[in-house]
Amino acid sequence: MDKITPKQIYNRLSKVYDRSYDAPVHRIEDDFIYKFISEKGFTKGKILDLGSGTGTLLSHLGISSDRYTGLDISERMIELSSMKFPNHNFIKGTMSNMPFDNDCFDSVLSLFGSFSYSLNHAKTVKEIKRVLKPKGKFLLMAYGLKYQSRKSYILNKFKINSPARFFKGKELKTLFEDFDNVKISGMTMLSEEFSKHFPYSISKAYHFVETNILGSIIPDKFYFLIITGNKHA
Ligand SMILES: C[S@@+](CC[C@H](N)C(=O)[O-])C[C@H]1O[C@@H](n2cnc3c(N)ncnc32)[C@H](O)[C@@H]1O
Repeated sequence: MDKITPKQIYNRLSKVYDRSYDAPVHRIEDDFIYKFISEKGFTKGKILDLGSGTGTLLSHLGISSDRYTGLDISERMIELSSMKFPNHNFIKGTMSNMPFDNDCFDSVLSLFGSFSYSLNHAKTVKEIKRVLKPKGKFLLMAYGLKYQSRKSYILNKFKINSPARFFKGKELKTLFEDFDNVKISGMTMLSEEFSKHFPYSISKAYHFVETNILGSIIPDKFYFLIITGNKHA
């Protein structure tokens, strides 16, 4: 039997996607990553959101329509994001063969695992380099090895065999060796369990410490790997 593709999976899950992530740990992760993205200047200039899903990036960061492009392989996800943000540009396509000119984005973002679903990671990395302007920045959140057993992973909840790649930090770093200032850090380790037993504010503080202190020392113990860097000048 043919394996189910990421496009088929997300077409099927589009309607339940947003409400699958309503546990406190997901709000904590959102607070952390969107603050990081803003503070580190990833929202300046023209932004490409790879695997834009239901438009969650725009739900958290106010980016005007003239500066934002979302790319997603699932037409159902594109329909949902376009309904939420009718003035923004969402394009159906694959990140391993992007329908964009060379050197046209200041920032490429790919959040909460989208990059892991690429069916050709090496080609996707070349495409990211091609579409970024010189000195352009990227931030991707890939699934770490631990993510495949995460109970809140939507594919685990719906008992779907994941076609995603779960990375070790070193593998990810090798893929991005042609970029400058490449850094890898883990996000979310014990915080998921922690947040089930402690109040939100304490859990959020714990997540911050866990991710900021241990994330860069033992990234492979975390659910997500955050990789950042920039294209050469
Ligand atoms: C886990 S969801 C993440 C969505 C969004 N970034 C978020 O933060 O909620 C993964 C998304 O990547 C999309 N996707 C999977 N493979 C893709 C590909 N090769 N090119 C573009 N999008 C892809 C899926 O359709 C889905 O919308």
